[in-house]
Amino acid sequence: SRKRQVDETLAPFKLSQEQLQLVKATMRAGLEAGLKNKGPSAVKMLPSYVYHTPDGTERGKYLALDLGGTNFRAMLVKFKKGLQNNTRLYHKIYTVPLEIMQGTGEELFDHLAQYVSDFLDYMGMKKAHLPAGFTFSFPCEQTAIDTGILVSWTKGFKATDCEGHDVVNLLREAIKRRNEYDLDIVAVVNDTVGTMMSCAYEDPQCEVGLIAGTGSNACYMEELKNIEKIRQKKQKTEGDEETPEMCINTEWGGLGDDGSLDDIITPFDAEVDHNSVNSGKQRFEKLTSGMYLGEIVREVLLDLTRGGLLFRGRVCGAVSRRAAELCGAGMAAVVDKIRENRGLDHLNITVGVDGALYKLHPHFSGVLQETTRVLAPQCNVTFLPSEEGSGKGAALITAVARRHNASKH
Ligand code: BG6
Ligand code: GLC
Repeated sequence: SRKRQVDETLAPFKLSQEQLQLVKATMRAGLEAGLKNKGPSAVKMLPSYVYHTPDGTERGKYLALDLGGTNFRAMLVKFKKGLQNNTRLYHKIYTVPLEIMQGTGEELFDHLAQYVSDFLDYMGMKKAHLPAGFTFSFPCEQTAIDTGILVSWTKGFKATDCEGHDVVNLLREAIKRRNEYDLDIVAVVNDTVGTMMSCAYEDPQCEVGLIAGTGSNACYMEELKNIEKIRQKKQKTEGDEETPEMCINTEWGGLGDDGSLDDIITPFDAEVDHNSVNSGKQRFEKLTSGMYLGEIVREVLLDLTRGGLLFRGRVCGAVSRRAAELCGAGMAAVVDKIRENRGLDHLNITVGVDGALYKLHPHFSGVLQETTRVLAPQCNVTFLPSEEGSGKGAALITAVARRHNASKH
């Protein structure tokens, strides 16, 4: 029957418990490999130079810039003394045109500088010389909180002359070219890290950040002694805490780029990868994020149409359920790693989350939670949606970085 044929087409999207356990184990191995000092790995595990979640003593007025989700956002954030919930936010959203995302790097950063100019006008703050945090949601190799060398574009971006360059410098140069206002760019932050920090301001148990949106990625607080890449350089950090930590941007979207997910990749996924601007890269992201799910569905529908089968509603559900399950398997690997780091039988932890797929899809969040619960039974994981995006977190990081700069001079 037709129904049987449709079911057969969709069968490879249905993952068994064993397969999901295997994805969790593959993710765990990816996290471990990325922490080692052995050259490039599929899961990049990038140090963020963020050592603490917020403690509520952050003060002042900051500009937060946010590139890499669906939109570019500029935001003014103020932290005041007193109750924690006193953040003030003003923001404006700008759409980055496709031809700018895929034009020259200079055009892209000139555009950002122009959006900032517009925002400062709107706020009446052109002369303010504000400290700024820059959420830049692509893999960056950091050696300090205010430098980030773009490793490779992901999602739909492919502006020229940016990969291999420090994106903070690219933005500073664009602002200089404009010669109209001054900004002090103090921190560059991945959106996962900004989201974790935003949520940790509300909930101190938040030590993981997750984005399920245009792209897919997670970050978490890792013990410094496990981060082989920077262990040599920096054994002890600020103060005398018992277990110094640093937030790691996992870039888990790259899982599978070494072939480790080939067993679950369907011909439809292969087609989507083949047609993308970064074929062979970000294989896990292409199974789990908003930018690609529609494309997978389209490939399946084309196939069913070719077979003379009518679309009967079922396809979207199968593709997005698989995405949520895979995301849950990845999250189970992350929270179990934190639990084992701490030598605990049981861990209570909060994950700060953002992204349209998590927030807007009717079933994604439920399936994600359920899969995480089943695959990490020793962890009690609470998912906390971020309310104002990653900007507040970027501002918190800026506040701390600035305090350290001031005490150094
Ligand atoms: C926003 C955050 O709310 O969510 C961004 O401020 C993040 O930093 C974005 O990149 C992710 O969601 P989406 O769906 O826009 O990719
Ligand atoms: C992509 C980017 C990553 C970002 C994620 C979510 O995976 O490489 O840096 O966090 O998208 O926006």
